Amino acid sequence: MSAFWSWWITLIALANILACVWLIRWTARKRPDEKPSHETTGHEWDGLTELNNPMPRWWLWLFYISIVFGLIYLLLYPGLGRYEGLLGWSQYSAWEEEVESMEERTAPLFAEFAERPIPELARNDEAMQTGRRLFGNNCAVCHGADGGGRTGFPNIANNYWQWGGEPEEIYVSILNGRQAMMPGFGGAMDDDAVEATAAYVFHLSGREVPEDLISRGEEHFGNYCAACHGPGGEGNKALGAPNLTRDEWTYGGGMDSIMTTIREGRQGRMPAQKDLLGEDRIHVLTAYVYSLSMDQRNEQDDEDDAE
Ligand code: HEC
Ligand code: HEC
Repeated sequence: MSAFWSWWITLIALANILACVWLIRWTARKRPDEKPSHETTGHEWDGLTELNNPMPRWWLWLFYISIVFGLIYLLLYPGLGRYEGLLGWSQYSAWEEEVESMEERTAPLFAEFAERPIPELARNDEAMQTGRRLFGNNCAVCHGADGGGRTGFPNIANNYWQWGGEPEEIYVSILNGRQAMMPGFGGAMDDDAVEATAAYVFHLSGREVPEDLISRGEEHFGNYCAACHGPGGEGNKALGAPNLTRDEWTYGGGMDSIMTTIREGRQGRMPAQKDLLGEDRIHVLTAYVYSLSMDQRNEQDDEDDAE
C-alpha cells in the first residue's frame, strides 16, 4: 500500500470515529434526567405520535463503549493503513499458525498411509477421501476435478502415460515435476512436409488418410520424429514423448493442432510438488492418481490374462 493510500485510510477511519462521537453527543444534548418533554418529532402514523426524547443513558453508554472498543482494536490490530498493530497479528501469521496446527494433527495419519504400498492404498476409502481433497485443492486447477485434463494439461485418469503409470513413476512426476521438450520443426520442414507428417500421425492413430501422404509422411517421421516418439510412434517414457497411436491428445488431435505441434513444438511443464506438499502427502496423491485409472488397469490385466 502506498503512503498516500495508507494516510487516506487512516484519516477516513479516524474522522469517522470522531464523527460518531460528535453525532452521539449532539443527539444526546438533553439528559434523560431532565423532565421528559412532550414535544413530538412531528411524525404521525394513524394518530400515533413520536415523542422527541433523548436516548436513555444506558444506550448512550453502549455507543461510547463500542467506540472505545473500536479504538483499542485499531491500536492492537492492523486496520489503519500500513500500521501493523501492537500485537503484530496478520492474516498471514494466523494462516501459518493454522497450517502448523493442522500439520501436527494430520502428520501421524499421513505417516501411517506412507507405510502402505500404493496399489493397496488406492483401495483404501479413508485414504482416497483424503487424496480427493488434496487433488481438488492442488491439482484440479490444471488436470480437472476428475483428472480428465484439458487442452495443454494431460488426462491422468485414462491409464495412458507420458512419463509412466507405475506407482514409482507417478510419484516422481508429482514429487519433482516434469518438463517436456518437443522442439519446433517449422524451420526445418516446409509446409508440405509438415502436412504429410501430420497426416502420417493421423494414420498412426488409426484414422483414414490418403495413401500418397502416408508414404511421404512416414519418411519425414523416420527422419524427424522417430528418435523421440519411436519408429512406430509408440512413445518414450524417458523423454515424456507421448504414444501417438492411441488417438488421445493433450494438445488436440485435429489436423490443425497436430500441424501446430510440429511447427512450434510443445514444452508442457508439471510443477514440482515436493516443497509444497511433502513426501507423505504426495504418497497419498500418487495412490489417488493411481486409483483414477484403476478400472482401465483391471481391463488391461484381463486382456493380458486372455492373451
Ligand atoms: C500448473 C498446472 C499443473 C498443476 C497445478 C498440476 N499439474 Fe500435473 N501436469 C501438468 C502438465 C502441464 C503436465 C504435463 C507435462 C508434460 O507436458 O509432460 C502434468 C503432468 C502430470 C503427470 C504425468 C502424466 C503422465 O502422463 O505421465 C502427473 C502424474 C501429474 N501431472 C499429476 C499431478 C498432481 C497429482 C497434481 C497435484 C499435486 C498436479 N499434477 C498438479 C500441469 C499441472
Ligand atoms: C526431442 C524429442 C521429440 C521430437 C524429435 C519430436 N517430439 Fe513430439 N513430442 C515430444 C514430447 C516430449 C512431447 C510432449 C510435449 C508436452 O507434453 O508438452 C511431444 C508431443 C507431441 C505431440 C502432441 C501429442 C498430444 O498429446 O497432443 C505430437 C502430435 C507430436 N509430438 C508429434 C511429433 C512429430 C510429428 C514429430 C516429428 C516432426 C515430433 N513430435 C518430434 C518429443 C519430441
